[in-house]
Amino acid sequence: MQGLAGKRVVITGGAGGIGMATARRFLDEGSQVVIWDHDEHALTGASDEIPGLSGSIRADVTDPEEVKAGFAEVGALMNGLDILINNAGISIRHPFLEITPEEWRRVIDVNLNGIFLVGRAAAELMLTGDGGVIVNMGSTNAMTGYHYYADYNASKAGVVELTRSMALELGPKIRVNVACPGFILTPMQDAEYTPDMKTAFSSRLPLDRLGSPEDVASLFAFLASDESSFITGQCFIIDGGEIAGGLASQR
Ligand SMILES: NC(=O)c1ccc[n+]([C@@H]2O[C@H](COP(=O)([O-])OP(=O)(O)OC[C@H]3O[C@@H](n4cnc5c(N)ncnc54)[C@H](O)[C@@H]3O)[C@@H](O)[C@H]2O)c1
Repeated sequence: MQGLAGKRVVITGGAGGIGMATARRFLDEGSQVVIWDHDEHALTGASDEIPGLSGSIRADVTDPEEVKAGFAEVGALMNGLDILINNAGISIRHPFLEITPEEWRRVIDVNLNGIFLVGRAAAELMLTGDGGVIVNMGSTNAMTGYHYYADYNASKAGVVELTRSMALELGPKIRVNVACPGFILTPMQDAEYTPDMKTAFSSRLPLDRLGSPEDVASLFAFLASDESSFITGQCFIIDGGEIAGGLASQR
């Protein structure tokens, strides 16, 4: 991808499945990469597994003080910021009638408030330099209803609208887009699902396979690179065709 070599990149949720694959991809592109996560143990593991990182930051994206301190650390580690992959997120599978107020608040807090807090602090740092690129993490759950994920669906729909609003106000110096993946098989899920479950899920998709973290990393790289320099405020679905037809696509 053009324009990624030497760029200073922060990836939140960087110790998880998609975040780690994205860190590897940006390192392959010659970028400087800092991973950011609230899970200290996972951060240590990821830092051991991925050689060449410029650093790792332990901070919770929902805590304004930790986010502020995190970006001070980013400034010290890389002397600025060009690209934010705003990826940290959580999900809980539970029926709507059983969602507790605490669970609702936590899901919205990480997936939507976290994107706002980190996105705003990143934009401030980018604007002290030449600007930059933010890619937020959405989901196909932002586009259509899915059973048992009402809080998650609502949080991701919020991220799509937040992305459009950020793009309006942060241009022309900062581009902002959102990636909306469907079913991505992370190493954790790969261990969790039986081969039969994976076959059943993939057979519903026009492309007849589940996505990989590397598929999403490629989209992040494209959206952060100069090859997408006329694109901002947009949502990019990467789902193997899952929601292309809705009910009409069911055989
Ligand atoms: N895997 C999928 O099928 C899929 C599909 C669509 C969207 N997504 C989104 O992709 C993103 C990454 O998901 P993943 O599948 O790699 O999950 P994952 O659980 O493997 O990784 C998420 C990472 O975020 C970190 N994190 C969670 N809460 C945090 C917080 N408060 N502060 C800082 N870090 C925090 C976790 O410690 C973890 O390392 C999420 O936003 C998720 O909603 C995933």
